[in-house]
Amino acid sequence: MDRGRYTMPSREASSDRPGRLTEVPEEAWYRRPMPDGSKEGEAGDRVARDVVDSLLEGCQVIGFDWRYLYVNDAVVQHGQRAREALLGRTMMECYPGIDETPMFATLRRCMLERTHERLENEFTFPDGSTGFFELRFLPVVNGVCVLSMDITERKRSEAALARSEEQLRHAQKMEAVGRLAGGVAHDFNNLLSVVLSYTGLMLSNLPKEHPHHPDLHEIQRAGLRAAELTRQLLTFSRHRVVQPAVVDLNQLVGSMHRMIARLLGPGVEVAVLAGAHLGRVKADAGQLEQVLMNLVVNARDAMPRGGKLTIQTGDVELDEEYARQHLGVTPGLYVKLVVTDTGTGMDRATQAHIFEPFFTTKAPGHGTGLGLATVFGIVQQSGGHVWVYSEPGVGTTFKVYLPHARGGDDAQPAPSKLAAEPTGALATGTILLVEDDEYVRASTRNVLRRAGYEVLEAASAAEALRVAEGYEPAIDMLLTDVVLPRMTGPQLADRLRATRPGLPVLFMSGYTDEAIVEHGILEAGLAYIEKPITVDLLTRRVREVLQNPGSRS
Ligand SMILES: Nc1ncnc2c1ncn2[C@@H]1O[C@H](COP(=O)(O)OP(=O)(O)OP(=O)(O)O)[C@@H](O)[C@H]1O
Ligand SMILES: [Mg+2]
Repeated sequence: MDRGRYTMPSREASSDRPGRLTEVPEEAWYRRPMPDGSKEGEAGDRVARDVVDSLLEGCQVIGFDWRYLYVNDAVVQHGQRAREALLGRTMMECYPGIDETPMFATLRRCMLERTHERLENEFTFPDGSTGFFELRFLPVVNGVCVLSMDITERKRSEAALARSEEQLRHAQKMEAVGRLAGGVAHDFNNLLSVVLSYTGLMLSNLPKEHPHHPDLHEIQRAGLRAAELTRQLLTFSRHRVVQPAVVDLNQLVGSMHRMIARLLGPGVEVAVLAGAHLGRVKADAGQLEQVLMNLVVNARDAMPRGGKLTIQTGDVELDEEYARQHLGVTPGLYVKLVVTDTGTGMDRATQAHIFEPFFTTKAPGHGTGLGLATVFGIVQQSGGHVWVYSEPGVGTTFKVYLPHARGGDDAQPAPSKLAAEPTGALATGTILLVEDDEYVRASTRNVLRRAGYEVLEAASAAEALRVAEGYEPAIDMLLTDVVLPRMTGPQLADRLRATRPGLPVLFMSGYTDEAIVEHGILEAGLAYIEKPITVDLLTRRVREVLQNPGSRS
């Protein structure tokens, strides 16, 4: 089937070219339409005509000289032309340029060769609206009968289906990439824990003047950078533990305004349009700052010769219709954060990949391609959505939607991470260390021993229970991985507390699945340390937990 397109002129036009009077021999012509009120012939004819007149399908008869001989009500309605404006005039008079369209070529073929033809055509109507029609051309005795069926609805739902399939494919791809990234980051974190804790130990053992000291320092720096990368990957794959609190987005944007202006430099004008009476969102404030930062930095990079950056906040309701068109969206109240730049923009091909980790168009050394992947992960974890709209050469808009915090979400700020004063003196106490990765366990043990603690080790929850049972003296703390084979860290803690009530526990993990994030550690407000584990971080957190076992840090 052919496809075509025709834009109807907006005036009841008359073309200078009334159309060539036909390649068809004159004998074949049929008589002109009977003027209204003339004798119609048999009653049967009238019935037939009434039926055709009132069909939903358009029906028109075009004479051999391209004049309209008959049009039914549907044609009048679809074509937005009065019947009198059509009948007796040629198609070219009524719709100039129509004789240059593929549709007309099909009509001509039917007219001359007396073939049956079919065609789907998109029309732009005089009022600017568009519609799809399936056209059938039938040779009839006085020319060609054109039947037209409005298939706009069907076409639109096919397009909507294609769009949601595309969105689904994209979501699945992001899911797969997320799993991969999360898995890699998890293993990397364990390795980095080992690297960083041994380097930390060696650095503190070696005198500053030792020739290896600067080299070790470099190793440590590289390790910390790698740790930052894995942290971003874990954020992307939504495997980072977050500290959600009720956040006022306007306040957050306001507090970052000066930093943003400084970051953008004088060439970029900044406008903040803060929506009034903004709803609160439940999210990790630090992470939301990161979202805004990443978007702003990208906007800056897209405007090397200056431009305008607009940050907008507002309340929106995403309705059923929106949810139907956007996969994974639950209808409801959202707060939007919109960042618009007047930069280079992106083509469709680029847009299809921007949220993937390590996708960058920037020169080596200028971008890792983790900025938007991080944004994506954070927004998803907050139950929100992020969309991009971009035109090459015009600019880009990122829209972040975050669901309104529920009424029951209390407005307490995220717990602050108060660092205890380092004492310098050797610590005391006995720590039961449970970690299934042998190397991480060894490096963690070494850090703890060096800090002065007694360390009991176990590679699994079961072993930990055995060790604890066979150990008479007090155990001052349990330091356990969250994800352990067979029994999780939190379950182990519960078991141990049955015989050792009030046992302080510090969990460690770089990676926890969402169930644990949602139902476990955070809701209980338990002490937690994120891998990779560095000497400083570990000793500080252990000290905090020992000093303040009931803390909800
Ligand atoms: N505002 C924007 N205008 C034009 N292109 C953009 C914009 N934001 C992102 N992009 C495109 O998306 C790509 C990915 O962005 P992303 O922030 O994930 O990585 P990056 O900025 O290249 O590196 P990183 O953020 O890790 O330093 C960019 O390289 C760029 O091509
Ligand atoms: Mg970036």
